[in-house]
Amino acid sequence: MRRPRPQPLSRRSVLGGLATLPALWSSALADDTPPPPSQLFHRNPPPPGSAAEVLDVMSFEPLARTALPPAHFGYLATGVDDDRTVARNHEAFGHYEIRSQRFTDLDHLDTSCAVFGGRWPSPIYLSAVSGMRAFHPEAEVAVARAARTRSVQLMLSTGSSCAPEQVTEARGAPLWQQLYPTDDWEVTRGIVKRAEAAGSSAIALTVDGAAEPRFNQTLRNAMLADSRECSACHLNNRHDMWLKAPMFAGLDVSRVTRLRPASVTPGYLDRLRQLVRGRLIVKGVVTGEDAALALEHGADAVVVSNHGGRNEETLRATVDCLPEVVAAVGGRVPVFIDGGFRRGTDVFKALALGATAVGLGRPQAWGLAAFGQPGVEAVIDILNRELGAIMRQAGTPAIASITAARVMRAAR
Ligand code: FNR
Repeated sequence: MRRPRPQPLSRRSVLGGLATLPALWSSALADDTPPPPSQLFHRNPPPPGSAAEVLDVMSFEPLARTALPPAHFGYLATGVDDDRTVARNHEAFGHYEIRSQRFTDLDHLDTSCAVFGGRWPSPIYLSAVSGMRAFHPEAEVAVARAARTRSVQLMLSTGSSCAPEQVTEARGAPLWQQLYPTDDWEVTRGIVKRAEAAGSSAIALTVDGAAEPRFNQTLRNAMLADSRECSACHLNNRHDMWLKAPMFAGLDVSRVTRLRPASVTPGYLDRLRQLVRGRLIVKGVVTGEDAALALEHGADAVVVSNHGGRNEETLRATVDCLPEVVAAVGGRVPVFIDGGFRRGTDVFKALALGATAVGLGRPQAWGLAAFGQPGVEAVIDILNRELGAIMRQAGTPAIASITAARVMRAAR
């Protein structure tokens, strides 16, 4: 489906009804803020006519903001408490500098990488983002089509707006099914069985959400700026995923009170390991100790993730957690990571620190909101292009040559 062309961004259109949003959103637009170098010559650049004209991943964010109702953009943008861990995830790439080497044979550049015995064209995958219909009417189907044209692995949220069978068909290859198991084991079993019947090759248990979901001021303000009652996304304006998401259709959810059990213990991992026939990925690990425990209890991979800063305000960026997880895993299984990846150099640094591949959260939703499927494709293309460029610059013609020697902790 063709989306309306995004309108030109002006101070008025960006702030619009969101003038009450907190400093996070408005400070960058305040009158006394000096323009970033990118705007010195084009204070009001014309909006891109197509996704292919967008130069970098971050430029999709304001386009998504223009395209979306305030509450939906707020849901996408928000973190928790003061949103500082959201920002930290990206800023922390500044803690690392790339040590480029010259005098390397760069005739053949190969961004492909080995994952679970297969070969990906690049070390990038799409992480779980729930309820994509909030961002585009074609929702996860458009994301899956983009993943298909770019041969990218897709992790589907339990809260997907589209059924797993439909998304699998659009992707044309097995998905990884993200798991919010709920606090009813029969429902857990139902989700796992359905995902596996749909062809999922892995179940990715999210372990980073022990606290009850809660509003912060960013999300509340965005909702206050939005008077619509959105029955497309919420049943009776309730947000409980198990009442609406297609994954729960046909399951008896009458005993479900929360998306995760109150405690996810090593014993719980053992029980899930018994249930899952394919691979078990544990998503949301941020320490070496937890990574070691996850492996001991059957994980086939871990994802270093803090849920894009949406569940806890630790102020600890995932890239800063990566080295201890890599050390604890010791090469036994893949170590994936997500959180704040916006540049090819971010991807490069994570690989140099030992990651197997990196996941994208918000950027895919920005691309989707602004342009539908071509927007998601453009986000992937940009990151691949930038990764290729820094691989050349750093003298690393293959993913395996991006070693710890190519990155150093910044002195500043
Ligand atoms: C998420 N994320 C997420 N994770 C998960 O395990 N299950 C889910 O349903 C969702 N849903 C979701 C919705 C939205 C709107 C966002 C932004 C994120 C977290 C996601 O998989 C990933 O960990 C982070 O988004 C990565 O950080 P960045 O790339 O958004 O900075």
